[in-house]
Amino acid sequence: MFLVHIMRATFCPWELRFSQFRRVKMAASLRPARTKVEVPPSLAYLQNIAGRKLIVFDSFEGLPENVENHDKSILGHSIKGWFSGGEFCGSLEEVQENVKQFGELEVCTFVKGWFENTMPNLNTSIAAAYLDVDLASSTRTCLKFLWPLLISGGVLYSQDGDFPLVIAVFNDNEFWRNEVGFTKPNVEGLGKRKLIRIVKG
Ligand SMILES: C[S@@+](CC[C@H](N)C(=O)[O-])C[C@H]1O[C@@H](n2cnc3c(N)ncnc32)[C@H](O)[C@@H]1O
Repeated sequence: MFLVHIMRATFCPWELRFSQFRRVKMAASLRPARTKVEVPPSLAYLQNIAGRKLIVFDSFEGLPENVENHDKSILGHSIKGWFSGGEFCGSLEEVQENVKQFGELEVCTFVKGWFENTMPNLNTSIAAAYLDVDLASSTRTCLKFLWPLLISGGVLYSQDGDFPLVIAVFNDNEFWRNEVGFTKPNVEGLGKRKLIRIVKG
């Protein structure tokens, strides 16, 4: 799942928003209902407080077919076989239902499809982006199309910072220079923790 927070006239303090987000996410994961598809409702809830819009990009068919050979998270556990095509599928209806129940449907736009097809059409400023996409290839696509749209001072988070193949993407100077068109930025927490962060200079 990939989420974009679109900028409006005022810019709100993202650190505050994300500490709230963590609390909301924690609360969501404690609820008795199934915890799958928990990021969009939590973020939608916050976007509503912040008076901003949220764009949710996803296939809504799970992960794409891929040949990525994931082995072990830097946190020590095996991630072998986790990311096959079709895994982590939440249908559009299921996600919307969860957002309706735990978030704010009105602030969301849902863009269904593979990132490489849907993201090139985005041409709006982004104040913050949150990536939860598992694959290195999907991370590349998100960075390629979204980083140039992120405003100066905007923030990009990835919660896939514990996957070595994803770390390699963030660390790849040539990828940043040749495909994204920017010098590789400083990625806070890279190689050390799951939730990593870049503030655009
Ligand atoms: C771990 S799941 C995220 C789940 C969601 N954030 C949540 O809280 O339940 C990864 C998601 O990324 C989506 N995804 C990954 N790569 C994609 C791609 N290239 N195009 C479209 N969707 C993609 C999958 O459909 C899946 O929903």
